[in-house]
Amino acid sequence: MPGTSVIGLQWGDEAKGKIVDLLTEQHDIVVRYQGGANAGHTVVTGGQTFKLSLIPSGIFRPQVQCVVAAGVVVNPASLLDEIEQLGSRGVTVGKNLLISDRAHVIFPWHFEEDRLLNERCAGGEAIGTTLRGIGPCYRDKVGRSWAVRLGDLYRDDFRQRVEQITRAKNAMLAGFQDAQAPATLDAEAIYTQYRAYADRLRPHVADTTAFLLDAAEAGQRILFEGAQGALLDVDHGTFPFVTSSNSSGVGVSSGSGVPGRYINRVIGVVKAYTTRVGGGPFPTEQDNETGDHIRRRGNEYGTVTRRPRRCGWFDAVAARYTARLSGADVLAVMLLDVLCELPELKICVAYELDGRRTTDFPSHADDLRRVEPIYETLPGWQQEISDVRRYHDLPTKCRAYLERLSRLVGRPIEIVSVGPDRQQTILVRS
Ligand code: IMP
Repeated sequence: MPGTSVIGLQWGDEAKGKIVDLLTEQHDIVVRYQGGANAGHTVVTGGQTFKLSLIPSGIFRPQVQCVVAAGVVVNPASLLDEIEQLGSRGVTVGKNLLISDRAHVIFPWHFEEDRLLNERCAGGEAIGTTLRGIGPCYRDKVGRSWAVRLGDLYRDDFRQRVEQITRAKNAMLAGFQDAQAPATLDAEAIYTQYRAYADRLRPHVADTTAFLLDAAEAGQRILFEGAQGALLDVDHGTFPFVTSSNSSGVGVSSGSGVPGRYINRVIGVVKAYTTRVGGGPFPTEQDNETGDHIRRRGNEYGTVTRRPRRCGWFDAVAARYTARLSGADVLAVMLLDVLCELPELKICVAYELDGRRTTDFPSHADDLRRVEPIYETLPGWQQEISDVRRYHDLPTKCRAYLERLSRLVGRPIEIVSVGPDRQQTILVRS
């Protein structure tokens, strides 16, 4: 079984890291293939807590090769911080971390643009980006004229490229007169800083597309670790309130360079409820005591930004759409224990839009904003489940909730998580 991908089916933060961690030991290679340091995961291992954004958590297993592939946007400073954090605490990072020479590089101008444009481009409502320069870097990748890839940092004309782009960016940023005065970017300082980054990153930089194709053809077991969630996919998500990469299952091949034929298992990860951070429509949002309870119990605050996450009921219309979009074979249902105390639970089974009931997920954010969720109400089980390890030991009402969720999404549940610890995991078929 060479290729497995792990894809979030909601708006990110589905606790994919725990599933990746569980599956890592069955794989030779773990790959991040889209997004950047907007994603974040906390890994607790050997009694130590690590905060990683770009480096796959496979780095804690020396026999596993970690790859940051071509579709990722790399902020060298934060990547080097992660490498240093690991090194200083005894986790060796050498050739076991490869970073694509095709990955696009985030520069100081991208942070400025994220800050200045974030509040403007969504017709009144802010996208609420993580301000990590992700969108502006992807914009330059698609625009091409002002793009710099990691491999460019080692080329003779790198200084000239920085000078040329800095001139253009300074002129562009000066146009935002009503915004806080943008910093004037200093080409020489940026060049010197990025040359130093390039030297430190050199041992890791490689043609990861060729590396992964060789590995896939040789039958190596590759685990693809999606960042964010499918509803944030730039093409198929809740545009414009999305991230700027293909964060659904469709992004695996474009970001990694590995054709879909090598990916034969897709695990769709959902929370037992729904959260969203940043702006945009969220039909099942509970801006009330229920939402507050879920936030408190689930510790629903952003890993990267610490923003409180918006919380609501499980939306089976959205999850069914993203399970299909991502080609999910099975589901992993996370954070089920968070719902333990609630007397009743709702699942959104359909939307009402313009007086019509539908289970189609609208393509336009304005329509999604207008839908009325149609709920089915199930009784809560109101007992703790964090110590349960076998599916049949879960309370009957809890199983009924899971089985309804699974039927509505149209996928079997393979894994249920009842707490943050590795042990707090139920393999449904065992
Ligand atoms: P960006 O990716 O920083 O451009 O942010 C775009 C949108 O995606 C915002 O609503 C962010 O809150 C959201 N977003 C980006 N990364 C994550 C993530 O890892 N988890 C959840 N939401 C995210």
